[in-house]
Amino acid sequence: MKYLLGIDIGTSATKTVLYDIYGKTVSYKAIEYPLYQERNGWAEQDPNDWWNAVVNGIRSVLADAKEGASVIGVGLSGQMHGLVMLDKAGKSLRKSIIWCDQRTAQQCEKINTLIGNKRVIEITANAPMTGFTASKILWVMENEPDIYERCAHILLPKDYIRYMLTGEFATEVSDASGMQLMDVKNRCWSDEMLGKLGINKALLGKMHESQEITGKTTKKAAKLTGLKEGVPVVGGAGDNPAAAIGTGIITEGAAFTTIGSSAVVYAVSDEPRIDMLSRVHTLCASVPGKWTVMSCTQAAGISLKWLKEVCCGEEVEKAQSQRKSAYEIMDKLAGEIPPGAGKLLFLPYLMGERSPHPDPYCKGVFFGLSNAHTRAHLVRAVMEGVAFSQRECVDVFREMGVPVSDMTVCGGGGRSPLWRQMLADLYGCPVKTLKADEGGALGAAILAGVGVGEYKSLQEACSLIVQKNEPIMPKKEASSLYEPYFKLYKKLYFDLKGDFTTLYKI
Ligand code: XUL
Repeated sequence: MKYLLGIDIGTSATKTVLYDIYGKTVSYKAIEYPLYQERNGWAEQDPNDWWNAVVNGIRSVLADAKEGASVIGVGLSGQMHGLVMLDKAGKSLRKSIIWCDQRTAQQCEKINTLIGNKRVIEITANAPMTGFTASKILWVMENEPDIYERCAHILLPKDYIRYMLTGEFATEVSDASGMQLMDVKNRCWSDEMLGKLGINKALLGKMHESQEITGKTTKKAAKLTGLKEGVPVVGGAGDNPAAAIGTGIITEGAAFTTIGSSAVVYAVSDEPRIDMLSRVHTLCASVPGKWTVMSCTQAAGISLKWLKEVCCGEEVEKAQSQRKSAYEIMDKLAGEIPPGAGKLLFLPYLMGERSPHPDPYCKGVFFGLSNAHTRAHLVRAVMEGVAFSQRECVDVFREMGVPVSDMTVCGGGGRSPLWRQMLADLYGCPVKTLKADEGGALGAAILAGVGVGEYKSLQEACSLIVQKNEPIMPKKEASSLYEPYFKLYKKLYFDLKGDFTTLYKI
């Protein structure tokens, strides 16, 4: 029996999944770790926590494998843009500054001054972003020069795990294009960006396509994890481009929405298509010769998790006694309230925002709060706010001529029937779901299968493995009930934009 291993280094947990070669889950293990938020707008995680979760996750899933069975390939997926810095000995020098950290507005300005906004977009396909890695590197250069001096390797989160498994310093195009150091059209590091920002190219990993083999498990990693020595590890992909493979979104015309810690709408294109207003990102896809248009709502699952922690103690307790997830109970509660959440709107900017408003200063808002509102209204408003943000992003895609009519939904939020229906109603198109969960880990495992030659191509693998349920149809009545709220939701950001900056400066 042959297996493929998919490992997804998420923000709330690492998910390790063992699959058979038909894509059936043999064993699954999620291991959580903390998010450190020392200051408002900062977000860091410890790379050692990720590695411990990977080691324990692999050990756990292998314990469920059949005797004599072997893992023929490993695929990695993970949260994008995070900065991992290692010293000469390969030890982590500081906690990783991760994707949702917003401390680098000044460094983005500096990138614009050094290179010019238009030229940055020409090369990297995106305007300088606080979420992307380049500005985080500049922040360490300026604020922690002693650490920068000792830095010998710069890696992304999943590429750090690759190093720990194989000893190789390597990356792949889908994740690396979110570092803002690549020539995205030509799928290689940009000497111009690196030269002008003063970053030594030798610090960066070797560039691969997502399905290429980047190294093999070392004796040391094999001993720790229980894997055999010499198992091929492929490039893999950032969590969203990996989910694209896991949802079968590999050709132009199809798109998916994932609601995890962040929420992303992702579509594949045959050439790089750029929004000059920077409302959405353009990156290399995890499919050779393809690109992607992708939006990112920073706090999607993060918003609901926050509400659960500060308001929903009763639901959490109920969930424990009924052995259910608290989100399932919150979902039911919100389902009792009609669209519009009793005239309560939520702007999901708890971690600033990226799409469609690249703005590190904006913050979360409940608008229209009254003493008639209950927890159920709050939960519904948060879910609707996240869904409104996806619709706003889809409108940008449509404006750019990127078709969004074949939509699949995945991620933790995709498990909520209520959230899925909201998306169908707001997009005004059918929404499909996957038969298997965990698109990111599955996508990484499929890439591994293609890399080791188990499947002839991504196309062959996806048509064999990715299966979808009957689509959820949009409900006309709900769509029209949402429309006036969505209109007001869109207006509120612009009404409050200046006030967000004023609040930041106090
Ligand atoms: C995408 C992004 C997030 C992270 C979270 O640009 O920053 O989706 O990848 O996992």
